[in-house]
Amino acid sequence: MGILSRRGPRVVTLPGGKSFTAGRDSVLNHALAEGVPFPHSCTVGTCGSCKSRLVAGKVWELTESAITLTSEELRAGYILPCQSVARGPIELDVPGFAEIPDHPLRHTSGVISGQRPLTHDIVELRLTLDEPIEYTGGQYAELSTDNLTTGPRAYSFAEAPNPAALDRPCFYVRRTPGGEFTEWLFDADRTGTQVQLTGPFGNLWLRPGNGPALCVAGGSGLAPVKALLESAAADRSEREFVLVFGARTQRDLYCVEELEKLAVAAGSLRFVPVLSEEPADSDWAGARGLVTDAIATLAPELLANCDAYVCGPPPMVDAVEDLIRGGRMDEGFFHADRFLDKSFRGRAG
Ligand SMILES: Cc1cc2nc3c(=O)[nH]c(=O)nc-3n(C[C@H](O)[C@H](O)[C@H](O)COP(=O)(O)OP(=O)(O)OC[C@H]3O[C@@H](n4cnc5c(N)ncnc54)[C@H](O)[C@@H]3O)c2cc1C
Ligand code: FES
Repeated sequence: MGILSRRGPRVVTLPGGKSFTAGRDSVLNHALAEGVPFPHSCTVGTCGSCKSRLVAGKVWELTESAITLTSEELRAGYILPCQSVARGPIELDVPGFAEIPDHPLRHTSGVISGQRPLTHDIVELRLTLDEPIEYTGGQYAELSTDNLTTGPRAYSFAEAPNPAALDRPCFYVRRTPGGEFTEWLFDADRTGTQVQLTGPFGNLWLRPGNGPALCVAGGSGLAPVKALLESAAADRSEREFVLVFGARTQRDLYCVEELEKLAVAAGSLRFVPVLSEEPADSDWAGARGLVTDAIATLAPELLANCDAYVCGPPPMVDAVEDLIRGGRMDEGFFHADRFLDKSFRGRAG
């Protein structure tokens, strides 16, 4: 690729020759507006999901990317497209771009058609949409309602896509104290409320391969991991799966029967629920501690060779990443969705 002119339209060229035109907003926002399934999560420069190598051209940085990128990545020319504005035409090498599931990005509407409690602070939310949405198990969508004043919220599809019911997706939503959307949702039965949905997005879909896969979920982070495993079971995957599901106490566990049945159906899924705050004198006979405690008991060969799919609150995802990355020299085995919310964006500035 020759030197690109700094004048002229700010065309962003991606792997495989795909391109779109950017303007004064971030490269990521323009990509999403153009329907490009660009990898992202936080959109505020803290998670690294959008990290890409600037092959040609120049960008302005909206925030200091050195907070998130390592010095090696900076030296190699990596940028954060969610925090970069193109100064002219640019070319980006986006890791894993060719593998991203190729579903059309939909902006659609519908209604809440069901709201069912799963635990004291998690509900199953069922939507009926005006048109079907295609996705891959593990991905998420952005939902908004007219009463939501601060933009859409991300929720992961909680079931593998069912071709006969793609207009009726399901999500697991956890109540966030002080949260605008979830406090409203938990205040009453919201069945019949109009919603808008955009998607699919996300990094958590199952990559091809035959090696073992370690899935780790905390709280409502079970949704995408369960959808990913259901998809693998539907595809009759013969891989070895281990699912570590972290919750506080027995009353925070849900979908346990479904997961146990799935374990039988898939034939190669080991399900490990682990409780961090279960009273010592209770009848719980399963694992106790944090998800990292349960992971540390797994076979070293599994940890050395697995692909990891991790979803839940950012501190849990970071702790799991630190534990699994230690000692591994290979790249590209760790896939995560951090359930960032406004409190995190507040800390990010
Ligand atoms: C990729 C992704 C997938 C997700 N999937 C799921 C899922 O499947 N299920 C699920 O339950 N959640 C999921 N989430 C989280 C979800 O998107 C919402 O963030 C969460 O439900 C909270 O929304 P809310 O409107 O109730 O809270 P918000 O209004 O966003 O507030 C969240 C918290 O921040 C505090 N807060 C609000 N404003 C500020 C501020 N300016 N400064 C500091 N603190 C503030 C609030 O008091 C509250 O405690 C996902 C997030 C991501 C990024
Ligand atoms: S989406 Fe760019 S760093 Fe998180």
